[in-house]
Amino acid sequence: MKKVKIKDKTFRTLITYQQLSEAIDRVAENLNKDFKDCEQPPVLLCVLNGSIMYMSELMKRIDFDCQVVSIKLKSYEGTNTTGKVKQAMGLTSDITGRKVIIVEDIVDTGNTIVALKQILADAGAQASYVCTLLHKPEAYVQNEPLDYVAMEIPNKFIIGFGLDYDELGRNYKDIYVLDE
Ligand code: IMP
Ligand code: MG
Repeated sequence: MKKVKIKDKTFRTLITYQQLSEAIDRVAENLNKDFKDCEQPPVLLCVLNGSIMYMSELMKRIDFDCQVVSIKLKSYEGTNTTGKVKQAMGLTSDITGRKVIIVEDIVDTGNTIVALKQILADAGAQASYVCTLLHKPEAYVQNEPLDYVAMEIPNKFIIGFGLDYDELGRNYKDIYVLDE
């Protein structure tokens, strides 16, 4: 099993790129079915920075017309959630009247998703859908339904495939879990 070290912490492989890739195939298949007949191209919302890798993999598999918009939110410090969601950069385009597919790296407590859905409603979105690569069901404290979940994982801190520990580790292709 491969291990990586970032600052003071060691991480071991949890999910391989191959497994992620197959899970993303399944999500894309569902999105292609559900959004193929939209009047207006849906918006794929990239939640920076964590979602960049998932977004690039997902987009390649989507065959309906879509527009990419970004927003930057922040809630984690180190390996813990602060419980507050900060908007570090606003929506990069007008989304009034649009269907918005929120592309997230991970839904943990769900606070980010709830805050984001409110931001989108305030910005005039017609509807929003949650499309997350990962989900930690044991950490989830919200009631918001998650529309598309590629994989569920235990309540452990992870890095790689876009996810960071103090801004490092996003570049790893596989996902690694804190080795305690
Ligand atoms: P939530 O608001 O608690 O659902 O957290 C969502 C955000 O926290 C995600 O979009 C991630 O950016 C970050 N996050 C949650 N869990 C992890 C983790 O295990 N590693 C790195 N970042 C995480
Ligand atoms: Mg994120």
